[in-house]
Amino acid sequence: MYQLLLDVDPYWLCLYAALGVGAMAFVMSQLHKMLPPQQLNRECSRTDNIPPGSLGLPFIGETIHFMAAINSDKGFYDFVRVRSLRYGNCFKTNIFGETHVFVRRTEWAKTILNNEMGRFTKRYIRSIAEVVGNRSLLCASPHHHKLLRARLVNLFSSNSISLLVKHFDPLVVDALNGWQDGGTVIVLDEALQITFKAMCKMLLSLETGADLDLLQEDVGQVCKAMLAFPLRFPWTPFYKGLQARKRIMSTLEKIISRRRSLDPNFEDFLQSLLAEDGNSCSEGMHRLTDAEIQDNILTMIIAGQDTTASAITWMVKYLGENEEALDAIKAEQLQLAEKTWKKSCLTLDDLNEMPYASKVVKESLRMASVVPWFPRLVLKDCEIEGYKIKKGWNVNIDARSIHLDPTVYNEPHKFNPSRFDDEHCSKPYSFLAFGMGARTCLGINMAKAMMLVYLHRLLTTYKWKVMDSDSSTEKWALFSRLRSGCPVQVTRISNIE
Ligand code: HEM
Repeated sequence: MYQLLLDVDPYWLCLYAALGVGAMAFVMSQLHKMLPPQQLNRECSRTDNIPPGSLGLPFIGETIHFMAAINSDKGFYDFVRVRSLRYGNCFKTNIFGETHVFVRRTEWAKTILNNEMGRFTKRYIRSIAEVVGNRSLLCASPHHHKLLRARLVNLFSSNSISLLVKHFDPLVVDALNGWQDGGTVIVLDEALQITFKAMCKMLLSLETGADLDLLQEDVGQVCKAMLAFPLRFPWTPFYKGLQARKRIMSTLEKIISRRRSLDPNFEDFLQSLLAEDGNSCSEGMHRLTDAEIQDNILTMIIAGQDTTASAITWMVKYLGENEEALDAIKAEQLQLAEKTWKKSCLTLDDLNEMPYASKVVKESLRMASVVPWFPRLVLKDCEIEGYKIKKGWNVNIDARSIHLDPTVYNEPHKFNPSRFDDEHCSKPYSFLAFGMGARTCLGINMAKAMMLVYLHRLLTTYKWKVMDSDSSTEKWALFSRLRSGCPVQVTRISNIE
């Protein structure tokens, strides 16, 4: 959703805000609701083989409906859900002056995410580029993206994951030790703290101190700015985000120049990038500039922190509400604890002994769909399963619908980790929590590792009761985040040995 919002030309947003079209849209939307679905379908499929769906009002399209969904109790995905129910597997709409098509079939996900015949690209995002930087992997042109990704992918080795586990584990243990027996904890708040620290340690070896506190505050401002109207007045979130970005860039510049002058021995992403940077020209590869390094360090903090914390939160909720799965995972983890409790730290080998927990992670990611859809820009007129799709449109793979499709997953709303017992039986492109193709998440294994560590420590330290069963998602959040933050009442387990 956030990408869809941010793909939009910010000046359209301002224009809409200024026009004050809410009242007119409300009237039109009431009229629209009065039309029977069949008539809507007919009206929307007038042009041969164009996907069904309403383009809404002239100029503003269905922007107001979209914004209303974002700001409603049902959450932003409701906009898509309602139209999927009405129009089926493929529908079109118009938001912020652009045509968006949503598709929810695994076959289409394959075609689009694999960018068959060079027809699709992740689009260049102007407003996001201003805050995360236009040399970020998220915003780079296809050619530049390829060069950047080729450099960054090396950082995500199994050695890096082992190091991450080594650093993440004590963070979780410390956090859990700080909980009061019998007290209530907001899982999301806690998870955001430790995932932020884990990212900063992994990327920059920052663990404590003023730099870390400032960075955390500033990254928060940047995230808010990514969803804000791009208005540059000193009191607006967008302006504050731009100022925060400047401070982050100057902190990163300082760190880089300290590293260069002192030549220290750090084991982190920044150090690898600076070292690779020295060698890269001789290998004839793209040399990362300092600006590219800075933009992508910021990108990775944002991409890794919020998503992983949200996924952990959903997982704690789902387990807390599903006794059968909870019993099964407890049995596995308590058995493993007989081996791990004497060790100072969990290792990758320990995580490899968690087959059921791995399925819990996967099932939680399926049900939560933390990134619910993936937008792509259409580069050439094309046809998808009989529908004409035009150059310049946006196609969005509706991952959440695929994850909850009863023809893809039996009883999709049931939390059932055992559905992944036989991986080979699953339909291709049916599990899209991390995307697929050239833009697949770089942090897949890191995210999974953090979720497993968290599970092991939580299950072997506490029992918990979910205090708020509400599943609504946060308004104006970058990802699907539980609005309640998942408050749980925790009771310490004292007899693990
Ligand atoms: C549970 C946690 C996570 C989820 C659900 C998640 C999900 C995703 C998804 C769906 C995409 C692709 C979007 C698209 O195709 O349009 C993506 C991209 C990305 N993710 Fe993650 N992610 C997670 C954790 C992480 C972590 C820990 C990192 C590490 C720093 C990370 C770094 C990235 C980067 C750099 C990209 C951009 C890749 C590119 O455009 O080439 N993610 N993520």
